[in-house]
Amino acid sequence: MIMNTNLLSKYLVDSKYLSGIIYFEELYSTNAYSKKIYHELKDNTIVLTSYQTNGTGRFGRPWQTNRNENLTFSLIKDYGLRIDEIHLMNFYTSYILYLTLNETSKDCSEHDLYLKWPNDLLLNRKKIAGILLDVKDMNSDMKKFIIGIGLNVNQEIFPEDINSKATSMKNEFKCEFMIEMILINFIKLFNENLCLLNQGDILMKLWKSKSNVIGKKVKFKQLDDGREAEVVVMDIDNDGGLIVSDVSGKTCKFYSGEISILYDE
Ligand code: BTN
Repeated sequence: MIMNTNLLSKYLVDSKYLSGIIYFEELYSTNAYSKKIYHELKDNTIVLTSYQTNGTGRFGRPWQTNRNENLTFSLIKDYGLRIDEIHLMNFYTSYILYLTLNETSKDCSEHDLYLKWPNDLLLNRKKIAGILLDVKDMNSDMKKFIIGIGLNVNQEIFPEDINSKATSMKNEFKCEFMIEMILINFIKLFNENLCLLNQGDILMKLWKSKSNVIGKKVKFKQLDDGREAEVVVMDIDNDGGLIVSDVSGKTCKFYSGEISILYDE
């Protein structure tokens, strides 16, 4: 089904949660499009599509999802954060997405939903959502954040290469979800909790409370040179860094990279 934009407008624009919704049945990438026309995009606009032909993830990886089955959009948010606070927007967005999914699935079967550093959501140990943050007007006090979100909602079949790592709400909860309602809930929660962006320490504490990685043995991959190491996660610092201890007990902090939790069984 294509997106019901009348419903979205009624709940999100009429009530002033959003200033506008730009919808395409098909678009190359909501983030790439938003970056191209960011001068024209007002604060609190979303660029939404039912199908991305060239969606991208972190580190330039493809983000491919089926037509009409998932949530793919970018939220344009003007916000005053210092350069050393920019990571908070990533942690904030993934935390709000966590709250949204938790709320949406409260009547569903037992499940494990966790935040994975730096900003993934795992459901029953598989990735269900990803966030790609672009920032414009970096040197101004008021920065323009392009917050790209991909959430797997009703897709049942994933390409073979990611099948063991990716999942959707439908696959885990065994029912179909209304994509519009998830988006409405996300935008409301995003607007209603914005004060957390000015309370970084509290935000990071909340984020960590929804993550299951501290104290775990993980495989850490540095994406610039592809180096991998088995380490134990000691903490996530308030500046967003992942503090790990290696086999020799040496502690290091990373700001970028990817972890996979090493489960015992
Ligand atoms: C990741 O986990 O690597 C981030 C994935 C982000 C995907 C979303 S879908 C909407 C927006 N447009 C894009 O091209 N990417 C983001």
